This record gives sequence, structure tokens and C-alpha cells, in this order.
Amino acid sequence: MAEFRLNGKAVSVDAPDETPLLWIIRDELGLMGTKFGCGIGQCGACTVHLDGTATRSCITPLSMAQDLDVTTIEGLSAAGDHPLQQAWVDEQVPQCGYCQSGQIMQAAQLLADVKNPTDDDINQAMSGNLCRCMAYARIRRAIKKAAEMTPMNAETTNG
Ligand code: FES
Ligand code: FES
Repeated sequence: MAEFRLNGKAVSVDAPDETPLLWIIRDELGLMGTKFGCGIGQCGACTVHLDGTATRSCITPLSMAQDLDVTTIEGLSAAGDHPLQQAWVDEQVPQCGYCQSGQIMQAAQLLADVKNPTDDDINQAMSGNLCRCMAYARIRRAIKKAAEMTPMNAETTNG
């Protein structure tokens, strides 16, 4: 049994402690935006936030979510209009789309940590998120665009 907040809503799940959080999110709680790729923490498709930290949900046991805030792609913004989501659309980033929710959740942590990331910052932060469709150049452009669109960053840039 575990209790946590999923996208701001309190949830209670009756499952073994060691059940991967990804299984809980998809199979028990019905949110399908978070994807299963490798299942061993190597691809990033399953990335969610645990108390704001990008986390591979395929290798995170349910017990680790106890009392924490779990945020999935569905909860990143109320209307799907987070700057990253807008930039992703503007730059037409996805190809097959499978890796994309994980990419965006990882990028959201990057922008929370680094307001105006350089190419090196982006490459380093995103290196664990694989894209079989090789959308890396578009992902980088979209992250930079989102950084410019973020109001706090614009204020900083303008002095
Ligand atoms: S499915 Fe979790 S890192 Fe690949
Ligand atoms: S868009 Fe296809 S795997 Fe990334």
C-alpha cells in the first residue's frame, strides 16, 4: 500500500512495495503518457518527476513514491501549454513520438535548474534520454525556445 500525490491529486495504491512505479502509473492509475522502453533505466522513456526530480519510473519501486509528489506528462501543465510543450509543437519535434514524454519531463527539470541552457548543458542533461528517430537537433532547438518563452527567463534576459 502506498499513498502519494499524482499530478496534484491524492492517490492510494494497494500493490506490493517493489512494483515499478511505471506499472502503477499506467496499469493501476490509467495514465498512458509515460512510456515503457527498456525497463532497466537506460532509455528515459519512463521519466516522471518525484518531488520535482526527473526519475526513471521503470526502476523506481512504488515504496519510493510514498508521500511524494509524482508528476507525469499529463500533469506538467493544466492545459498542455507548458513552454516546453508549446516549443515542442512549434519545432515539430516528435517523429514516432514514443520517447517524447520522457524527453519533455527531463527537459523540464533542466529548465528548472538552468534558466538558459547552452548546448553543452542540454547534451549533458538529456544524454540519458534516447530517441530512435534521432530527433536530437529538434529537441535541442525546442529546449532553447522554451527557455526564451519562460517569463522568468525573459525578464532575466531583459535585464
Ligand atoms: S523504460 Fe525506464 S529508462 Fe527505459
Ligand atoms: S520520436 Fe521516435 S523515438 Fe523519439
